Amino acid sequence: MNSKRKRIIADFTYNPVTAQAHANIALVKYWGKRSVDLNLPAVGSISLTLDALKTTTTLQFDDALENDILQLDHRNIVGEPLSRLSRFLDVAAETNERPSAKIVSANNFPTGAGLASSASGFAALAVAVNEAMNLNLSKEELSSLARKGSGSAARSIYGGFAEMKCGTAPDDDREDYAVHLYNESYWDLRLLIAVTSTDKKEIGSTEGMVRTAKTSPFYKNWVESQDTDLKEMRSALNAKDFQKIGELTEHSCFKMHGLAMSGRPPLLYWNGATTEMIHTIWNLRSKGTAAYVTMDAGPQVKVLCQPGNSELVKQAMYSVKGVKKIIEAKPGPGATIVSDDQFKVKNS
Ligand code: PMV
Repeated sequence: MNSKRKRIIADFTYNPVTAQAHANIALVKYWGKRSVDLNLPAVGSISLTLDALKTTTTLQFDDALENDILQLDHRNIVGEPLSRLSRFLDVAAETNERPSAKIVSANNFPTGAGLASSASGFAALAVAVNEAMNLNLSKEELSSLARKGSGSAARSIYGGFAEMKCGTAPDDDREDYAVHLYNESYWDLRLLIAVTSTDKKEIGSTEGMVRTAKTSPFYKNWVESQDTDLKEMRSALNAKDFQKIGELTEHSCFKMHGLAMSGRPPLLYWNGATTEMIHTIWNLRSKGTAAYVTMDAGPQVKVLCQPGNSELVKQAMYSVKGVKKIIEAKPGPGATIVSDDQFKVKNS
């Protein structure tokens, strides 16, 4: 162990540390990695953090534990999900010769079903790790750390709107962190999330991205056209041009899904209700209600609209067969440390 690592471990806090982070939705999507090992994105992205989708995570280092322990949504988790968190802690500590940790995490929404649970999950864990390891990271360093867990998590460090930057070298992550664009009070928007399935997705985003990059004939064009979309979205956000933001959001979403569908074998994350919902929203729009759809690596449909239209849009969304639930979200806050109550409750 080198002296820096010794110092880091000597600084560990053994008290429980609790952090909260909110999921985010990409308005300009990230899809593709220029390094899988270092988790470096192939393109930048722009997102909106959501108040309604929250992860609360308590982390406690404990010398008495033989191995790391993970409780997610009140269940003990082993295997790959636990190994992924252990690797993340090793990366943050810069060594695997660190005390074992207990991680207790809960989402107030379905996990692993295309509702960005890895974004809020790794953002909350990064913030907790920063506190428990006394790392004193800046927001951008925190974002970079969260990115090592999940690409989209880098954006959940911030409230409101964030942009994930993207470097060019395959082995250098110095430019791969998100920056803050506007905070949650910049603009009151609504994102209505139609949950059409709570099943875990079959093909995770990393596997999907790797397959797409290898096999889609459109991948090069996707990467090359991203800077134009990012530039247009930045200026539409600056001008609070809702129609432009909606059009760009849909464009980026369909470009990403078209890309995924053009892989071999094709990747289709939608179900019947997803498609029906898209038509319902487009039909509503043709009658004058400004609402725009976006989907991620799952069948849920997220509809962007302004607050005055949210009841009308929700009503139309409920008319779609197969909708299990609609979650209404507003722009939400960035990731923070909160009290350690959750851990105390679990252990009492
Ligand atoms: O953070 P990941 O590796 O789960 O990738 C997320 C990819 C999308 O959600 C589909 C798009 C995005 O930019 O969030």
